[in-house]
Amino acid sequence: MSTRLLTDPTDAATHIKAGQVVAFPTETVYGLGADAFNPTAVQRIFDAKGRPSDNPLIVHMAHAANVPQVAATVPPLAERLLKRFAPGPLTLILPRRPDVPLIVTAGLDTVGVRIPAHPVAHAFLTACETPVAAPSANPSGRPSPTSWEAVAAGLDGRIAAILKGGRAAVGLESTVVDCTATPPRILRAGAVTPADLQTVAPDIALAPAAGPVRSPGQKHRHYTPSAAVHLVERPDDASPDAAHAFIGLEAPAQPSAFGRVAVCADVAAYAHTLFDFFFQCDRDGVERIYCQRVAPEGLGLALMDRLERAAAR
Ligand code: TXA
Ligand code: MG
Repeated sequence: MSTRLLTDPTDAATHIKAGQVVAFPTETVYGLGADAFNPTAVQRIFDAKGRPSDNPLIVHMAHAANVPQVAATVPPLAERLLKRFAPGPLTLILPRRPDVPLIVTAGLDTVGVRIPAHPVAHAFLTACETPVAAPSANPSGRPSPTSWEAVAAGLDGRIAAILKGGRAAVGLESTVVDCTATPPRILRAGAVTPADLQTVAPDIALAPAAGPVRSPGQKHRHYTPSAAVHLVERPDDASPDAAHAFIGLEAPAQPSAFGRVAVCADVAAYAHTLFDFFFQCDRDGVERIYCQRVAPEGLGLALMDRLERAAAR
C-alpha cells in the first residue's frame, strides 16, 4: 500500500469513510484512526501497529456533546471534567454503549473518549461524521510520534494516509481518568495534571502502581527507542561520546562531545521535545540516550512516567 500525505482534513475523512486507517495530528501526539463502528477498519489499526488485541483504543470525537454516541452513561463528574477540560489532552473512561464494537475496547465494558483541541483534528473528526478509534500512530512499543515524519518513519506503506498538521504541541499522550471508579482514578499522567483535576474532583486518586491493571496499555512495553535510555540526576552523570545523546533541563559541561544534545527551557519544553528527540536519535543511529530526571510533579509526573518506561527494558 502506498501511504498518501494529505493536508485536507476532508480528504483524510474520505479514507475513514471507506474503512481505511489514517494518521492525524492532535495536540498530544499523532493518532492512527479508523471508524469506531467498523470492526474491519479497527482491525486494520491493530494490524498496522502490531498492537496486542488486549489493549483498548481511545475513541475520538469533535464535540463533548457527541460522547453519548459511545458511552452508555455520562456521570455528573465526567460532565464536569468535560466542561472544564474538553477539548483538550484528557481521556475519560466511561461505561461502554453496547453497540460499540468489542474490538475497540478489547472486550471491556468501558470505553475511553477524548475530544482533541488541535484545529486540524477537530476539522478531520467533524468531516468523519463518526467516532474515530485511535491509538498513538507508532508501531506498538515504540515512542509515540509527534510529527508526520515520525509517523511515516514507523508506518509508511502500512496505512492509507497521513494527515499533516505540524509538531504536536504537548508531545506526551493524554491524561487518562477512570470515571467508572469511585473515587475517580488517574490511570495515565498527562498534561492535565492531578492538581488541575482536583479543582473539579477533589478526591481523585492516582492509580496505585501495584494491584489489578485497570488500564491494559500500562502493562505493555512502551515508549522505547532503539537506543538504550539511561536516566541521570545531573548532566555530568552522562558519559560524553559521539554515539551518546543527552536531553535535560541543564547543559552538560561539554555539549560538543555528544552526538546530539537538547537543553530544554522548562518541563513543558522537555515534554514537547522528548519523543521527537528519541526519533532523531534513532535516525542518527545514537546508541545511548541520557535523560535528565525532573521533579515528578505537575507535567513532570507525566514526563517521568514516560522516561521511566523508556528506560525499563
Ligand atoms: O493522547 C492520546 O491519548 C493519544 C492521541 C492519539 O489521542 N492516544 C493514545 O492512545 O495515546 P494509546 O492507545 O496509545 O493509549 C491509550 C491508553 C492505553 O494505555 C489504553 O490501555 C488506555 O488508554 N485505555 C483505552 N481504553 C481504555 C479503557 N476502556 N479502560 C482502561 N484503559 C483504557
Ligand atoms: Mg500508544
